[in-house]
Amino acid sequence: MATKVILDVDTGTDDAVALMLAALSPDLELIGATTVVGNCPGIVCTQNTLRVFDHIGVDVPVHQGMLEPMVRPDFNRPEKSVIHGLYLDLPPATSKATSNDAVAWLIETYEASAGDITLIPVGPLTNIGMAFRQQPSMLAKLPELVIMGGAHHIGNTTPSAEFNIWVDPEAAKVVMGCQRPIRMVPLDATHKALISLDDCKKLRQLGTPAATAAASFIEQRVEGYNKYQPMAEMDAAPVHDALAVCAVIDPTVIKTELIYVDVETKGELTDGRTVCDFGNRSHKEPNVHFATDVDLPKFKEMMFDILGRTA
Ligand code: RIB
Ligand code: CA
Repeated sequence: MATKVILDVDTGTDDAVALMLAALSPDLELIGATTVVGNCPGIVCTQNTLRVFDHIGVDVPVHQGMLEPMVRPDFNRPEKSVIHGLYLDLPPATSKATSNDAVAWLIETYEASAGDITLIPVGPLTNIGMAFRQQPSMLAKLPELVIMGGAHHIGNTTPSAEFNIWVDPEAAKVVMGCQRPIRMVPLDATHKALISLDDCKKLRQLGTPAATAAASFIEQRVEGYNKYQPMAEMDAAPVHDALAVCAVIDPTVIKTELIYVDVETKGELTDGRTVCDFGNRSHKEPNVHFATDVDLPKFKEMMFDILGRTA
């Protein structure tokens, strides 16, 4: 029985790979995607998400969400992200967004559900925080959140913070406090799950629309990481959001520790940091299964298997 999922995305290059994995995996039923401002302006994230679904030939509802963070003004992103660019290098979408109110759609979908839809946010948590605030009763129908975001040992946007949490710390704080099961896939895990240019060659050899597009997106990421954020291995890059989707398909692809996690919203130097209480110093009830390690061969095998499929 396929697991019902919703992806909340700020489609950029790794979100695009995550969307294709979720749409093509026989173990998932992707019932919709919601877009949020993050890697790109919100309307660009929506267009990119539509382009991805058109490219692989699937009809998945796309609902545009928040165009600004919950509390803070939007941030001054560069004209084009070095890792994501702006519009994905795919033909302009022929499909259209189903609505421009992702928050309302999330609320009504969960309220009407049987409580069997896993929510996979892989961008800033603005839509999710807004929905939880507007309609707390939806939480009773939320079986699990599997979030790409956060970090303990590293930051990728400031020395203290990971991008998705940094963009909207207040929304992230609401989500950390939701008292529903949370698995977090942070940089501590995704930076151990690098996909190389050689892997991209193997993807291209698969010859499917998804594998070919994923290869292009990841090669673009490798170029950006080589230049601006070199990883332990050159000519390789993390595909953060893809790991979160794979963790829903097969939970054994990551290793997690149950800890208390909160979000800094007032720190001059630490705004947007996920404060991870591995030593239980706060004596607070642990709230997050925090991924600390990855089964890289399994992750790669899942990527090749699923992206080698067609709709
Ligand atoms: O920090 C990595 C995260 O920020 C990924 O979700 C990437 O797509 C960006 O949203
Ligand atoms: Ca993302």
